[in-house]
Amino acid sequence: MTTKIILDCDPGHDDAVAMLLAAGSPEIELLGITTVGGNQTLDKVTHNAQVVATIADINAPIYRGVTRPLVRPVEVAEDIHGDTGMEIHKYELPEPTKQVEGTHAVDFIIDTIMNNEPGTVALVPTGPLTNIALAVRKEPRIAERVKEVVLMGGGYHVGNWTAVAEFNIKIDPEAAHIVFNEKWPLTMVGLDLTHQALATPEIEAKFNELGTDVADFVVALFDAFRKNYQDAQGFDNPPVHDPCAVAYIVDPTVFTTRKTPLDVELYGALTTGMTVADFRAPAPADCTTQVAVDLDFDKFWNMVIDAVKRIG
Ligand code: BDR
Ligand code: CA
Repeated sequence: MTTKIILDCDPGHDDAVAMLLAAGSPEIELLGITTVGGNQTLDKVTHNAQVVATIADINAPIYRGVTRPLVRPVEVAEDIHGDTGMEIHKYELPEPTKQVEGTHAVDFIIDTIMNNEPGTVALVPTGPLTNIALAVRKEPRIAERVKEVVLMGGGYHVGNWTAVAEFNIKIDPEAAHIVFNEKWPLTMVGLDLTHQALATPEIEAKFNELGTDVADFVVALFDAFRKNYQDAQGFDNPPVHDPCAVAYIVDPTVFTTRKTPLDVELYGALTTGMTVADFRAPAPADCTTQVAVDLDFDKFWNMVIDAVKRIG
């Protein structure tokens, strides 16, 4: 059985790996790739999506989304993703041959969900939630038609952009507030989980052994990502966040989950963009949100390696 998904992303080193996992997994039908301003400007991340699609010959259509957060000014993650948004060395990125469609990403998301059978299309956002928030405000019926939303963002114990807020949520907290408060099934794949998805030298060696062009690209992504994570956040190895959300669609046993009410802080002096999980009691029966907890490290990385192998 395959699951249809829309990958809403801001490539981004780890978004690039999410694209590869989605494209190389037979369990997934990748209906489209939508881009959103986040790690870098919309122009840069859209270009990067085209580049990744070109390297891996991904033929899913690409749609440009929203350039800036709903309320706040543009803020990019240059220290993690560089000036281009997907800065790498030791690999020459090609000029893209994959085009961007004319339709706006928000309209593509709405039309796709409304034109497919209810409960068949999942949304997988791996950037700020601006496109998704606008889509559900423009066409509220998508909330009851979508299969589920599995997003990379937030965290119930840690932040990375501030002490308690994660980048994707902090950049556009108002959009995140909209998305977290809709009554659709939502899985938050936050930092608590993605900080377990480290690209260690052993994992990198396995990609190296594949010896394909796409695997070489992944190795170059990891090298650059490691350096930036060491310099900016003191990590030994980079956490490869975004494919974790895709991995849950491929096989939901890749991590454990815990059902819990979730909300997004908008007004804190120190806590704006914090995702607040309420673990005080068992989640109420009508709770539609859950958080990712423990990653099966080997299962996750084997999944990504297999996908890269399939792409060839
Ligand atoms: C998230 O922010 C971005 O830098 C990554 O692509 C990921 O989606 C991690 O906080
Ligand atoms: Ca991202």
